[in-house]
Amino acid sequence: MKILVINGPNLNMLGIREKHIYGNRDYNALVSFCKECGEKEGVDVDCFQSNHEGAIVDAIQEAYDVYDGIVINPAAYTHTSVAILDAVKAVSIPTVEVHLSDVDSREEFRKISYVRQACIATFYGYGFDGYLMAIQALKKHSTETKQGV
Ligand code: DQA
Repeated sequence: MKILVINGPNLNMLGIREKHIYGNRDYNALVSFCKECGEKEGVDVDCFQSNHEGAIVDAIQEAYDVYDGIVINPAAYTHTSVAILDAVKAVSIPTVEVHLSDVDSREEFRKISYVRQACIATFYGYGFDGYLMAIQALKKHSTETKQGV
């Protein structure tokens, strides 16, 4: 099984930005964490990060016929991007939404997620562990789909 982890704008600033919300670990630590999760779960994990909405749309389109699952933290584009929602719908790849912080207990605008309606699950407020939960959810979904559950 091949999973693509997509991180949106400003997540390359982890370890620098708002540490009281996002923690001390940097983006490279997140990539290492996701790769280790992949090894533990027996799935191939690739990571992609961009600050640009169109580049994220391109990455989702290019995942078609290549990846079996997508983990996406669209960051600020979560709350604004119909284009990312449409891209996930277009490729029909099982996708899980992740946020490091508890988006529901922050500003009102962070409660809105466009991509959520195209996702099989959402994990928020668990920090890096949310990415592990997302990978496990995709693995479970893949097994159940193959078994016709
Ligand atoms: C975030 C939450 C978003 O509201 C915010 O814009 C981000 C990060 C998170 O991981 O908690 O950049 O997606």
